[in-house]
Amino acid sequence: MANWDEFFAKEQAPANLKEVKSTINAFAASHRSAGRDIVFVTSGGTRVPLEENAVRFIDNFSIGTRGASSVEYFLEQGYAVIFLHRQGSLQPFSRNFPSHDILDLLQLKDLPDGSNQLEVNPCKVAKLSKVLKMYRQVRVSGTLLMIEFNSLFEYLFLLRGVAESLACHGPNVMLYLAAAVSDFYIPSQSRPQHKISSEVPLQLNLVQVPKMMTPLVKEWIPRAFTVSFKLETDVNIISKKARQSLAKYSHQNFANIEFKLNANINLVVKVVVSNILQTRKKTVVMITPTQERAIWMSDSELEAGQEIEEKIVADLKEMHQQFIASSSPRASNT
Ligand code: PMT
Repeated sequence: MANWDEFFAKEQAPANLKEVKSTINAFAASHRSAGRDIVFVTSGGTRVPLEENAVRFIDNFSIGTRGASSVEYFLEQGYAVIFLHRQGSLQPFSRNFPSHDILDLLQLKDLPDGSNQLEVNPCKVAKLSKVLKMYRQVRVSGTLLMIEFNSLFEYLFLLRGVAESLACHGPNVMLYLAAAVSDFYIPSQSRPQHKISSEVPLQLNLVQVPKMMTPLVKEWIPRAFTVSFKLETDVNIISKKARQSLAKYSHQNFANIEFKLNANINLVVKVVVSNILQTRKKTVVMITPTQERAIWMSDSELEAGQEIEEKIVADLKEMHQQFIASSSPRASNT
């Protein structure tokens, strides 16, 4: 049994898995029949419980900025978006108004009769209107489907479930895996039932989480356009690591990035977006089998409030469209 099959056999699936899969099926079918491509965005950090009745967890830094902002740009680009995000992490649209700023959005105007009227702060009107307009359009078109996870287990079961549900839509699906996934966990059979005693020093025995990229691109959804992210903190190893992961999870023939191969050959084009923790909002490197290209933000772009995700998404959309064109039956005859 592969180590990922063992993982799924031993851990508990989330109670809503079946329901999520049928919601995804309906969402994807209706948007595909309206001619929209689908992107599946994962976002936020996964949480690893130390106990069965969990009081303590191992967590990571991600608050989901990249995922939430990318969703807005994918929606602008005409995609139907499935957003698998960590509960409480940033969400598209509302992320533009952090909770500590929320009261600055409003002001009280004194009326002649002594009462007050609530108004939007004039300096916030432009930003609020822009976001509100986009949000309303998305509500009307129904192009955004939000799904929450909390633990590593929920994330991985939902990742597999959503991927399998989308597999029938072939190359018209993009996977954009921006979640920060835990690499270590405590298997269910080793997790204590109750709160770990604090009376003795704690030694944890963590097990490696199976790398899910392999079954994802080879079994669950092999014909999608898969984009994974590689995060490091050491600038000297990032490129090598990202290349290794591209080589490991891509199907073999690197010429496929030219998008000229026969669509009958079951190929997966992979892009790895590599980023360094400290500079991830300013620069990323897009690595494909044939290219390594930096996307970066100038100081003036950052000062003007522009975001690197806008450029990443535009770049990926172009690659995805070429991928779809090259995967069509007509492309395979030429
Ligand atoms: O949320 P923000 O604060 O905006 O930060 C964004 C980000 C830095 C989290 C994001 O840009 C990013 O890099 N996400 C990927 C982080 C990560 O998990 O990197 P990794 O090198 O550990 O994993 C590489 C890839 O393998 C990831 O696409 C991950 O989905 C996948 N993976 C990881 C572990 C695992 N067991 N199975 C996997 O398939």
